[in-house]
Amino acid sequence: MSDHPEKPLKSHGRLTIRPVLQPRDLMAEPPPVRGAWVARVITLFPDAFPGVLAQSLTGKAMDLGRWRLEVTDLRPFGIGRHRNVDDTPAGGGAGMVLRADVVDAALRDAMAGTPPDRGRWPLIYLSPRGQRFDQAMARRFAACDGMTLLCGRFEGVDQRVLDHWQIEEVSLGDFVLTGGEIAAQALLDASVRLLPGVIGNAESLEEESHSAGLLEHPQYTRPPVWEGREIPPVLLSGNHAEIAKWRRQQAEALTKERRPDLWAQHRPPR
Ligand SMILES: C[S@@+](CC[C@H](N)C(=O)[O-])C[C@H]1O[C@@H](n2cnc3c(N)ncnc32)[C@H](O)[C@@H]1O
Repeated sequence: MSDHPEKPLKSHGRLTIRPVLQPRDLMAEPPPVRGAWVARVITLFPDAFPGVLAQSLTGKAMDLGRWRLEVTDLRPFGIGRHRNVDDTPAGGGAGMVLRADVVDAALRDAMAGTPPDRGRWPLIYLSPRGQRFDQAMARRFAACDGMTLLCGRFEGVDQRVLDHWQIEEVSLGDFVLTGGEIAAQALLDASVRLLPGVIGNAESLEEESHSAGLLEHPQYTRPPVWEGREIPPVLLSGNHAEIAKWRRQQAEALTKERRPDLWAQHRPPR
């Protein structure tokens, strides 16, 4: 008998995501959406999804079938009556580690039917040890057919399964989260908003922070005067060339002041 007598259950979503345990054959499969970008997420906390991704632009894009979220609950792949997914670290020390065999079974499920070329379908482990996530990575992911994300918990994942699957590790930043779920949602939000048609005004993507290696210029809206503070007059001048010039200067000044690292890449010192 297999370690996993019950078929591990996956939620499917186009209009809604239901990361609940129900037999797969009792679930109404949404009709396949041709061309939809797909995110598959492995997590011990399926109720955390879709989370904030169901809101605003990403939620609307999901409702419209531009992308789909499929959540794999790690728990049913666990071992024994209690479906244990973790164990104590080899060599001693604090905390628990997600088991290689359990994670492998979930990965086989979540990678089933995906293109073997990781250039078309990246396999990511959210990890503070990974390469720092950035806008270039979001662009790369958005250009793929979809991706699979593994959310860690506890002290992380047994190294052997990461090596075996040659998983790419991606970090949200130089801090430690309790689990990979928030990181996965941040990565997905940044990637999904770059899918064609998700943001109505594609021009706004061109000017926003990190798109052209600069931080974005300051933004203003009504009222024209608030608490004695005026909108910079050039923005009300109607002179588009002057507005573009002012915005560019502001973006450069902000980047130079706040992010010398970005500025050095943008304008290497002579
Ligand atoms: C408590 S952390 C484990 C940290 C690990 N012991 C270490 O020191 O590298 C649990 C899980 O949260 C996720 N996580 C924590 N910080 C993260 C970050 N900065 N970026 C992405 N995922 C993170 C990972 O999936 C990780 O397996």
